[in-house]
Amino acid sequence: MDKFLINGGKSLHGEVVVPRAKNSYLAILSACVLCKGTVTLKECPKFVDIEKMLKILSSLGCEIKKIDRDVVIDCNNISNYNVAKELAKEVRSSIFLLGPIIARLKRAKVSYPGGCDIGLRPIDLHLKGLRTLNVNIDEKFGYIECKTDCLKGQNIHLDYPSVGATENIMMASVYAKGITRIFNPAKEPEIVDLQNFINSMGGKIFGAGSDVIEIVGVDSLHSTTYTPMPDRIIAGTYLIACAGCTGDILIKNVVPCHIASLTTKLRDSGFELIENDDSIRLVSRGKGNSFGKIDTMPYPGFPTDLQPQALVLQTISKGICIVTENLFETRFKHVPELIKMGADIKVKDRSAIVTGINNLYGAEVCATDLRAGASLVIAGLMAKGQTIISDIHNIDRGYENLEDVFKSLGADIKRI
Ligand code: UD1
Repeated sequence: MDKFLINGGKSLHGEVVVPRAKNSYLAILSACVLCKGTVTLKECPKFVDIEKMLKILSSLGCEIKKIDRDVVIDCNNISNYNVAKELAKEVRSSIFLLGPIIARLKRAKVSYPGGCDIGLRPIDLHLKGLRTLNVNIDEKFGYIECKTDCLKGQNIHLDYPSVGATENIMMASVYAKGITRIFNPAKEPEIVDLQNFINSMGGKIFGAGSDVIEIVGVDSLHSTTYTPMPDRIIAGTYLIACAGCTGDILIKNVVPCHIASLTTKLRDSGFELIENDDSIRLVSRGKGNSFGKIDTMPYPGFPTDLQPQALVLQTISKGICIVTENLFETRFKHVPELIKMGADIKVKDRSAIVTGINNLYGAEVCATDLRAGASLVIAGLMAKGQTIISDIHNIDRGYENLEDVFKSLGADIKRI
């Protein structure tokens, strides 16, 4: 089992290029199932979750080729509608395949998904949406089995703007008869990216990013070449790391408005940020003020996927910060690890009260999930002394050789 060994306390200087977005890639890979042709996706990052999703597509009958950094997916001959349990339990986004498989083959069988253990993560909204589109669903022996004779466009109101449910319903309704409207959909940039991808194959989806998404059913989708959006969570991770370690970094391949909820707080805390169309430079000369409050919310609110990293920065900021996690019940697993490093944090229900201290101190800690793991890397980089992080396979799910990125910026970190 690999571990990270970090000798903290180094400032970060230099340039980094942000890879394409994991969450966009995962939804878009699912949507490839809809295409009766060949899809070329540019600049595919080597995240473990993406590799696992490609394995699932392959098991369904898609032919997959890697050409340099691109991935070419031929879904012409897809015939298997069954996502095997051992594959589905490896990656949460296997559930995104329900919609496209049922749309393409009129049958789908997917086992309950795995993924990060950050809370209950129900899928009731996915299933309710599919049922409204005339899908018959049977849940037994750990599998969700779907059948339909004809998908029918409908108006669907989501009780909560779930990212996954919005994506599943969008993909399921691409071939439905008539028009589907999703009210109160998720507005995340990844939803807009999925719309743009499907439309590049001849789909007719309108309104992603707004209060209503309209999907006009079409008969078929054709081949395409597409470049998914940059990863806003990775961009945010780099910015927070530099803010906490001091230094001066330029982040390239980022859409600044995608992380305005973070950059506004960083600026208000005293860090210098210079934004261009597709880059952000951050200069950190010392400790910043506390963010005061972090409330995770659906986009464009503060992203839950940046909560652990932002919380780490609060541990050494001036003042007190109250961090409230509104999306996932058990997303404070980094807190006990940070307390081992000397942090002053008290958790009550869904809130963590973080009081800034002078320094964190290196310790042996465990990356319990993807973003908690990334937050511990930042903590190790900021801390005095040596930090050893175990279970870093969780970090590799959504970061590609994170140690090399930070090494290139001057950090002392290695994989052992
Ligand atoms: C996606 C992202 C994940 C991110 C999350 C929120 C991917 C692969 N993952 O996850 O990184 O943290 O969005 O931005 O894109 N809910 C229900 N019923 C449902 C579905 C969701 O109650 O049927 C609730 C969840 O418990 C949670 C909230 O809705 O409290 C948000 O979940 P959702 O937006 O669905 O997240 P995911 O799509 O799982």
